[in-house]
Amino acid sequence: MTLDVAAVRASFPALSAGAAHFDGPGGSQTPIEVAQAVAATLVAPMANRGSGTQAERNADAVVAGARQAIADLTGGVPGGVVFGRSATALTYDLSRVLSAGWGPGDEVVVTRLDHDANVRPWVQAAAARGATVRWADFDPATGELDPEAVAAVLSGRTRLVAVTGASNLIGTRPDVAAISALAHDAGALVWVDGVHLTAHAPVDVTALGADFLVCSPYKFLGPHLGCLVAAPELLETLHPDKLLPSSEAVPERFELGTLPYELLAGTTAAVDFLAGLAGAEGDRRARLLAALAAVEAHEDRLRERIEEGLAGLPGVTLWSRAASRTPTLLLTFAGRSARDAYLFLAERGVNAPAGHFYAIEASRHLGLGETGGLRVGLAPYTDDADVDRLLAGLGEFLAG
Ligand SMILES: Cc1ncc(COP(=O)(O)O)c(C=O)c1O
Repeated sequence: MTLDVAAVRASFPALSAGAAHFDGPGGSQTPIEVAQAVAATLVAPMANRGSGTQAERNADAVVAGARQAIADLTGGVPGGVVFGRSATALTYDLSRVLSAGWGPGDEVVVTRLDHDANVRPWVQAAAARGATVRWADFDPATGELDPEAVAAVLSGRTRLVAVTGASNLIGTRPDVAAISALAHDAGALVWVDGVHLTAHAPVDVTALGADFLVCSPYKFLGPHLGCLVAAPELLETLHPDKLLPSSEAVPERFELGTLPYELLAGTTAAVDFLAGLAGAEGDRRARLLAALAAVEAHEDRLRERIEEGLAGLPGVTLWSRAASRTPTLLLTFAGRSARDAYLFLAERGVNAPAGHFYAIEASRHLGLGETGGLRVGLAPYTDDADVDRLLAGLGEFLAG
């Protein structure tokens, strides 16, 4: 199937403000259906979860619905879906629980490709336990993270490998399945940051070999919160700090305080919106796989158009080079700052931010330090006219 971009765009009120949005990797625009689901939940009878009143049942149904939606999106099971404030918060929370049994001699593997949300919580957890951090490097020339680079830092003492499903800075999609197999052979758990990947490709937590996968609905057309997906049996073995009266059940055990019911309803609506891109036939998981494959094809076509356009512009360096990658392009310009390019484009209604986007280790490893580059990210609502405006704007900037 092909994506009907005009029909997609009609659902996004924000686009009527006129900007071309290449800032999706920071957070996507939101369809009206998602906003309506949030509003409808806020004004419906709502109480704490329970079964006695309609208001309690409404809250219960919203939570159950959102767990099923995220399970469908990621190939997980609803009983293994944990909601939290953000992927960062969930990673911090679980890093403390998972590291409880670590000690001197134990090791954790992190990569220099990752967003800091999948680096610093592990580095700090290791430091608190006297455990050792081993770093896996990507090749700055190609942007590739070779599974062998992870294998080289694995040992019999590796307790956990933290790796990204896709880089939010340069788009690289490492071979996570291969990395997970190596990690499991060494007896380690695998924590996958799926925040950037989930917005751009069909995801299957089992195929990735991820023991834990995090994603953030606001990157895939939903509201601002975070999700963690794991096997319920694995979650049963973990005991986070929690309030005495709060539930011991999995996954509730990991969810501190009252869940944001309206955002959970918005999350379900975002998943339904994505599934709806593939029409109405089949179960939601099947429609999601088809829809995300169509999104991927659409974004790849536009990415290639941008890359062809960039090749004709003077002094542009493209840092996104891996064979398998999301449509996320990091650019720098000879003699001109990425920040100036961002501001120049912003004046022309083209939104493409500059920076390191918290992938600070990756930016440094590329030699781009704290400055980073201009990031051009695509989304299901990006169209050819947006690409024309981007290329024209960059052409003007570089001619100036
Ligand atoms: C790859 C990646 N991981 C993690 C995060 C952090 O997500 P959250 O804002 O949900 O903590 C981001 C946000 O930009 C990201 O792009």
